[in-house]
Amino acid sequence: MENIQVSDYGITGKGDSVEKYTLTNRNGMQVEVISYGGTIISLTAPDKNGNYEDVVLGFTDPEDYFNGNPYFFGALVGRYGNRIAGAEFTLEGKTYQLHKNDGSNSLHGGKEGFDTKIWTAEPIENAQFPTLKLTYLSADGEEGFPGWLTTTVLYTLTDDDALEIYYEAITDKATVVNLTQHSYFNLSGDFTKAITDHEMQISADRFLPVNKNIIPTGELREVKETPFDFTVSKPVNRDINADDEQLRLGEGYDHNWILNGEGLRTIASVCHPGSGRIMEVTSDRPGVQFYSGNFLAGKYKTKTGGRYEKRSGFCLETQGYPDSPNQKAFPSTQLQPGQKYQTKTIYKFSVKK
Ligand code: BGC
Repeated sequence: MENIQVSDYGITGKGDSVEKYTLTNRNGMQVEVISYGGTIISLTAPDKNGNYEDVVLGFTDPEDYFNGNPYFFGALVGRYGNRIAGAEFTLEGKTYQLHKNDGSNSLHGGKEGFDTKIWTAEPIENAQFPTLKLTYLSADGEEGFPGWLTTTVLYTLTDDDALEIYYEAITDKATVVNLTQHSYFNLSGDFTKAITDHEMQISADRFLPVNKNIIPTGELREVKETPFDFTVSKPVNRDINADDEQLRLGEGYDHNWILNGEGLRTIASVCHPGSGRIMEVTSDRPGVQFYSGNFLAGKYKTKTGGRYEKRSGFCLETQGYPDSPNQKAFPSTQLQPGQKYQTKTIYKFSVKK
């Protein structure tokens, strides 16, 4: 397909070949995806002068993806995005042990989550817009999770500069599923700048406070009169350094917001005032993890010079609530044989009028 180009990207330490797929729309917006982790390695978005620039954090050297990608830059995360307390859960009377890869928790699918897997990638022929189909079959017991899980993800780049992500999964045994996309954005296009000047709006009247392990305590807390109130757009730095226990625990924002409403709806909007870039997020998920890049620590070089310092990118990961397998009051993340997990999230880019 002419609006999806494929090229060789590299060979992993295990000897697997990785391909790169470049999706291009009518406006020249481009999204590059590699079959390793279904990872988005670049995504361009227009500024007020019509310049399309890369706005996602990533590496220039393939080895940095293959040998770790510790921050999950751009990756598809599964089988369970976010944290599971104590790295275990009980389902239908059976207890499952997972890898402890985040203190005592399991984070983002474990030691070798979906972000490290080679996905089967194929451009969809005759689709209205460039669409890349990715599939991954996760074995029963992989990373400790029960059931063979077949996961399909579609990345579609529409002509209105939106990246639509559709996720589907089926299982042959009761299991838990919480898939997400882990791109870090910096809408300035300058990765040496902090994202704290971005203006953020999140349609959520409540959020999930966490304990010292960044696990939700179970409380659903009103955002009103707290630094977590993004119901009306405000710069990220307005309250990020407030004297607040939850901000101390997350070292900034690293929490799940309980999204208002149900079904596919606009859940967040971010604007970078300097460039005029806007990103709007639409999703059918109940929660979003707004992570303000607190743990980025200057270790990795950016694509354009300098290093990824603390707060040089932010994530808006749409998902079920963290630790749902252990928190029965949260919306269920269980998947049963015969059921289909189906969800959609859209990141749409535009310019401030
Ligand atoms: C988590 C952060 C974590 C980051 C990288 C985010 O989804 O909320 O706590 O540091 O992923 O793993």
